[in-house]
Amino acid sequence: MKIIILILIVLINFNVLLCQHIKNHSKVNTPIKINNEIFQEGKKLTFGGYQNYDYYFLIKHLTTKTPYYQSNHFTENDNLLQDPPKQCKLISIDFLGRHGSRMPEVDVIKKMNKLQKQISIIKDFIQGDGEFGWLKNYTVPYKSEIAGNLLTQGQLEHYNLSKRLLKKYPNYFGNYKPQTTKILSTVVSRTGVSASSFSYGLFEGTGILGNNFQPVHIETSTLDKDILLSFFLNCNKYKGYLQDKSIEDSEREIWKKMKYPSIGREIKKRLGVPSDVDWQLSNSMVNTVFLSCVYDTAIGNVTNRWCNLLNKQNILDLEYSKDLDDYWLSGYGNKINYEISSSLLKDIFNHFDSIIDSIDSNENNNNNNNNNNNNNNNNSSSDEDFSEGKKYPKNILRFAHSETVIPLMSLLGLFKDDYPLFANLTSCQINTRKFRTSEIVPYSTNLVMFLFDCGENDFKILVKHNESPILIPGCDDLYCDYQFFKSLFPSVVNFNWESYCSME
Ligand SMILES: *[C@@H]1O[C@H](CO)[C@@H](O)[C@H](O)[C@H]1NC(C)=O
Ligand SMILES: *[C@@H]1O[C@H](CO)[C@@H](O)[C@H](O)[C@H]1NC(C)=O
Ligand SMILES: *[C@@H]1O[C@H](CO)[C@@H](O)[C@H](O)[C@H]1NC(C)=O
Ligand SMILES: *[C@@H]1O[C@H](CO)[C@@H](O)[C@H](O)[C@H]1NC(C)=O
Ligand SMILES: *[C@@H]1O[C@H](CO)[C@@H](O)[C@H](O)[C@H]1NC(C)=O
Ligand SMILES: *[C@@H]1O[C@H](CO)[C@@H](O)[C@H](O)[C@H]1NC(C)=O
Ligand SMILES: *[C@@H]1O[C@H](CO)[C@@H](O)[C@H](O)[C@H]1NC(C)=O
Repeated sequence: MKIIILILIVLINFNVLLCQHIKNHSKVNTPIKINNEIFQEGKKLTFGGYQNYDYYFLIKHLTTKTPYYQSNHFTENDNLLQDPPKQCKLISIDFLGRHGSRMPEVDVIKKMNKLQKQISIIKDFIQGDGEFGWLKNYTVPYKSEIAGNLLTQGQLEHYNLSKRLLKKYPNYFGNYKPQTTKILSTVVSRTGVSASSFSYGLFEGTGILGNNFQPVHIETSTLDKDILLSFFLNCNKYKGYLQDKSIEDSEREIWKKMKYPSIGREIKKRLGVPSDVDWQLSNSMVNTVFLSCVYDTAIGNVTNRWCNLLNKQNILDLEYSKDLDDYWLSGYGNKINYEISSSLLKDIFNHFDSIIDSIDSNENNNNNNNNNNNNNNNNSSSDEDFSEGKKYPKNILRFAHSETVIPLMSLLGLFKDDYPLFANLTSCQINTRKFRTSEIVPYSTNLVMFLFDCGENDFKILVKHNESPILIPGCDDLYCDYQFFKSLFPSVVNFNWESYCSME
């Protein structure tokens, strides 16, 4: 009997250990910057009575609206990274960044206005001098005219990011040349402004304009032609699957039905509305309370208003809801979600291949006494066709969206759980999931590939996610043999956009 009890205790302890939230909510180096353009009055930054969590918990559970900060976690991991073998030289960078912190989009602002109307119905129940007195005169602070725009905080995120990259590789970039660094963004302004903030940091002080400003070229495709960064909008098969519900977020719907009505009742109670009053928040409005909390915190560091209507468990449940959405519509939930990003990964391979080819052909040219230097490239026609036989420039910097980054991360096999994310998972499985957007896709998420030439036709690739080196499943070293890396993705190498995305 005693032994059985002992085993039980051990088992229970083991379970508790397993179920702990793996990540430490480490303190943040860079505090969130208050955007004075939105919240002018200096709010008292305290927490309300229903908030059984602290600041560091909150700012790490804001889903894809989590601002980018460089936590100790990233810096420590990067410092642990060993230098590549001595003979290896960095020869090419392919950078993919999500846009930085932004304003809510129009559809969300509309919902916030709707929420305000719903609340105004019961405002007589709210105590003017109580915790929610502010709701009596509330107006939504976000204006539709600037919906979706990059915030100054988002500019700083990308500016700081490029400064840290520059510091890490101080002799790598040099002066700006369009032949050396190609900068791409989607047609949406927040990605273009992110690209511009990043490049400003990268080439600051090297130009001749004004205060030595260096202008750069940022290339965008029209939306309907952008198969590299906006593939999710242009693949007909994917769009068809969304329409005919072959792809859907039914797990999120199940989860909402399970969790939202009771969260709605809790909110009603916290507001002081008697339970016999016929007023309740719809599931969509419960979610809008969360979105208001999330944006107020991410944008204005206003943590004690809408967030005060939510306790810790509410926040975790609402966070999981958003992750279910991204998992089933952009991530591992359906193969097509990430297979369509093969166009992008293939372009990255083509980029690195062309860099490697140009090195090989340079070596051949040198052996041939530099004879007929131009002969191995008959195809270059304009000055945009990068010189010296290179089809691609040394560096490509790409700026896009979470719908670009999540599929590519999934294609690479990153942050994949051993089980599909269902609404019926145990709380242990939910708490320890790897696919947690707050951690893996904050604003300004970046996935960067570094190509090293280690001599004698030995090329290595290093991948960093949010400035932290990350092991690609299948590779046995952070510096992974490039040809081997490519061989892990045979269907990407042979990917054909037209045939894959056609509706047949
Ligand atoms: C988490 O943080 C606490 C307090 O800062 C520290 O004592 C502990 O060692 C950390 N745990 C891990 C796993 O890093
Ligand atoms: C944001 O608010 C928290 C408390 O809610 C505070 O600790 C932190 O310093 C604030 N950040 C800034 C930049 O004011
Ligand atoms: C709301 O506005 C009214 C009229 O402008 C004012 O008298 C009242 O004090 C305000 N209430 C709160 C809680 O700010
Ligand atoms: C950017 O870096 C500056 C200087 O280190 C810092 O003051 C600021 O808070 C950082 N901002 C962001 C959003 O990272
Ligand atoms: C380039 O064009 C010239 C003349 O048309 C031809 O002789 C040569 O073989 C071509 N070189 C390559 C690499 O295709
Ligand atoms: C030149 O173009 C031809 C046909 O489009 C292609 O087969 C060949 O690989 C290209 N050569 C180079 C050096 O890009
Ligand atoms: C959980 O849900 C999934 C999908 O809705 C279903 O296939 C599975 O059987 C369920 N598992 C349990 C244990 O009920």
